[in-house]
Amino acid sequence: MSGIKIRGTGRGLPERVLTNDDLAKKVDTSDQWIVSRTGIRQRRLCTEETHADLCAAAARAALERGGIRPEELGVCIVATMTPDTLVPSAACTMQRALGLSCDTLCFDLNAACTGFLYALHTAECLLAAAPRKYGLVIGADVFSRVLDWSDRSTCILFGDGAGAAVVEWRAEWPSAGAVLGCAGNDGLLRCPAGGTLSMEGQQVFRFALEAVPWCIAQVLERQGVTAEAVDLFVFHQANARIIDLVAKKYGIPPEKYYKNIQRYGNTSAASIPIALSELEEAGRLPAGTRAMLVGFGGGLTWGGALVEIA
Ligand code: ACO
Repeated sequence: MSGIKIRGTGRGLPERVLTNDDLAKKVDTSDQWIVSRTGIRQRRLCTEETHADLCAAAARAALERGGIRPEELGVCIVATMTPDTLVPSAACTMQRALGLSCDTLCFDLNAACTGFLYALHTAECLLAAAPRKYGLVIGADVFSRVLDWSDRSTCILFGDGAGAAVVEWRAEWPSAGAVLGCAGNDGLLRCPAGGTLSMEGQQVFRFALEAVPWCIAQVLERQGVTAEAVDLFVFHQANARIIDLVAKKYGIPPEKYYKNIQRYGNTSAASIPIALSELEEAGRLPAGTRAMLVGFGGGLTWGGALVEIA
């Protein structure tokens, strides 16, 4: 025993909306192609907003919903691969922006689109030793910074955004039982420092269709429960077809899984906490809800966890 539950969630999104039709004016694509292959209809892009602005908005909303004051946090982790600056880290920027205590552990973590799962698990481990038992876990990416806007196979997929969860650790609570993995492969998905992202889309698609069901199975086994015990499945939003295929494989009914990729595209490390914050706002995360979170992405990396709402 000993683990975390989610106390509150929030999101920070840029104002500008870029529709598929807007994109079709820049590259040789169409709304019909993008919707049918990915489910994406629009995405948000930063103009004036910084990465830190998005993180701070998500964090403040999560703290407010959780009823937690910034100085009560023991840990602040930002999962990202596109921070404003490498130093100070996005998490250190949050220390000042949110007014966190100086002894709050603040650092960034990069596991690409799986970052939120890695950060959630890291928070659970660190909070066991921290003097204060609340943690802030942010997933945030401004992918518009690393996109090649002439590459139609990647630039249509991504959007900017941040999501956050405030978690609480207690000795008597069960662990979220995270299952995390990595297989070093720089050929399928690559973004060199200072460069732009390239991806072998079909191969990543196939990898996701193996990784997501594998993660679900491993988490269920570790927790000793069946899929029926899960109230909600929240998958990384990379492609609506991936989500639907996995749901079909597990026989998950539509009311038990969530899709918002049509509005935001793939927001990388932010996609799962953004989805959680929308679900919470809609009243779909009452106390006691058990949510299975599953992510996958560059690295290659993958991860799943079964986390309860406090
Ligand atoms: N508009 C129109 N046509 C296009 C576009 C576009 N935007 N992009 C590619 N095409 C064309 C291709 O050129 C190709 O044409 P051809 O047959 O004449 O060569 C055709 O459409 C089919 O291309 P495919 O790549 O086979 O299309 P596919 O159905 O595989 O869809 C996609 C591509 C959407 C990228 C899909 O493979 C996918 O979603 N992959 C997973 C991506 C993912 O999940 N990434 C997550 C990790 S991200 C992270 O961690 C950072």
